[in-house]
Amino acid sequence: MIQITFLTNQGKTVSAPADSNLLRVSLREQGGIPFKCGGGLCGTCKCRIEAGREHTDTVKPKEKKLLTEDELAGGFRLACQTFIRGDIAVSWQPREAARGTANTAAAPSECSPSL
Ligand code: FES
Repeated sequence: MIQITFLTNQGKTVSAPADSNLLRVSLREQGGIPFKCGGGLCGTCKCRIEAGREHTDTVKPKEKKLLTEDELAGGFRLACQTFIRGDIAVSWQPREAARGTANTAAAPSECSPSL
């Protein structure tokens, strides 16, 4: 058995058989990785392998379509396309933040000159 730690879900750690699909484990164990299609098409399950990247299988063509080279180099994967051979830790952007509320830095500042 291998261990998968869902960092964004308060570090919840579960066991799974080797060569498990990451999204399936998340669904079965309520790991919390967001998803929609389950087939490598929507990109909703984008997540980052924070530890144990060497325990993941090779990046699929579908992932190369939806993730930039920088993201892939930084350890991002699509959970529905990723199989795990050993212990990993995974994080992702919570859905609320993904909707855009986190991007407050680009909002107009409060100190604009009064006319
Ligand atoms: S759930 Fe749609 S790409 Fe993984």
